[in-house]
Amino acid sequence: MEIVSNHIYPVIWQENKVSLIDQTRLPGEYSRVEISRSSDMAQAIKTMIVRGAPAIGVAAAYGIYLGATEIETEDRHEFLQHIEQVASLLRQTRPTAVNLFWAISRMLKIAYEEIDTIENIRTTLLRTAQAIQAEDLATCQAIGDHGLMVLPATPNKLRILTHCNAGSLATAGYGTALGVIRSAWREQRLARVYADETRPRLQGARLTAWECVQENIPVTLITDSMAAHCMQQKMIDVVVVGADRIAASGDAANKIGTYSLAIAAQAHQIPFYVAAPFSTIDFDLADGSQILIEERDPTEIYSIDNAVICPEGTEFYNPAFDVTPANLITAIITEKGAINPSSLINYRNAVA
Ligand code: MRU
Repeated sequence: MEIVSNHIYPVIWQENKVSLIDQTRLPGEYSRVEISRSSDMAQAIKTMIVRGAPAIGVAAAYGIYLGATEIETEDRHEFLQHIEQVASLLRQTRPTAVNLFWAISRMLKIAYEEIDTIENIRTTLLRTAQAIQAEDLATCQAIGDHGLMVLPATPNKLRILTHCNAGSLATAGYGTALGVIRSAWREQRLARVYADETRPRLQGARLTAWECVQENIPVTLITDSMAAHCMQQKMIDVVVVGADRIAASGDAANKIGTYSLAIAAQAHQIPFYVAAPFSTIDFDLADGSQILIEERDPTEIYSIDNAVICPEGTEFYNPAFDVTPANLITAIITEKGAINPSSLINYRNAVA
């Protein structure tokens, strides 16, 4: 993949290492972390140095390759045993984003292929991780273009509300929801992005606003609780969000707070789009009730900047995602076009 220096690429393969933008430090500090061991990659995914469903998939694919370089053997059984251990470690990092499991399965298939030497398996694994990355970039650009076709045609430029970060940082580059927004900006159809701050990890404030500012895309930050008010005040024309896992029914899991946005959008007759690649669709799950929702450490909600914000004795519940039912989603914007969520099932065979 050609790396263009002024673009945002959260994952880069260079000099036999994976270089990750440390997303926990943005926007205050732009720094990259170099990863050369599979266990460090698992840790980077768990601690959200790299996050966002497609980016997690790309990172995990490189994690499998790194694992393949950690064992010196010509014994295929021993090699595969090690790769399975690495895959298991990576799978335990974050449960909701299906791209993680999808990318690991694709890499494991290669590891089990009838390739003559272990060294050649390693080479093929690296090529596959690079292909997953390059395909995701192209996919996001296609999602952006398909998004343009369904965005409402209004006399004025659009004011688009988004939640969390489904941008370059969350993918191989360009983004899904933010990819649609980037394409709208490029075509001069965007007036402004409204970015929900996205409590508790603040991906909207820290990452989406940062990406917009890098490209001079006008962005207004609001807290999550202001979104319905902005809709009522007729400040929002359309909502576009990403997804971590979409069930066959079209129900979509995304960052906590997405569901309440969808309810508010419906109450105000505002179109609500989910932008996601096919690798985010899990046809094995009939509906959203089967999607496993990650629960994260309560420290994320009981403190801000290390200052505790509630009395001792308070109990906590910290789900990282919620599920928006298909009936609240206007369409799912994929690389193959915008799909009515209720007809998603017809695309089952289109998945590689
Ligand atoms: O917990 P995160 O930051 O990994 O959650 C990310 C999201 O919810 C994104 O909206 C989703 O992964 C889509 S990214 C293109």
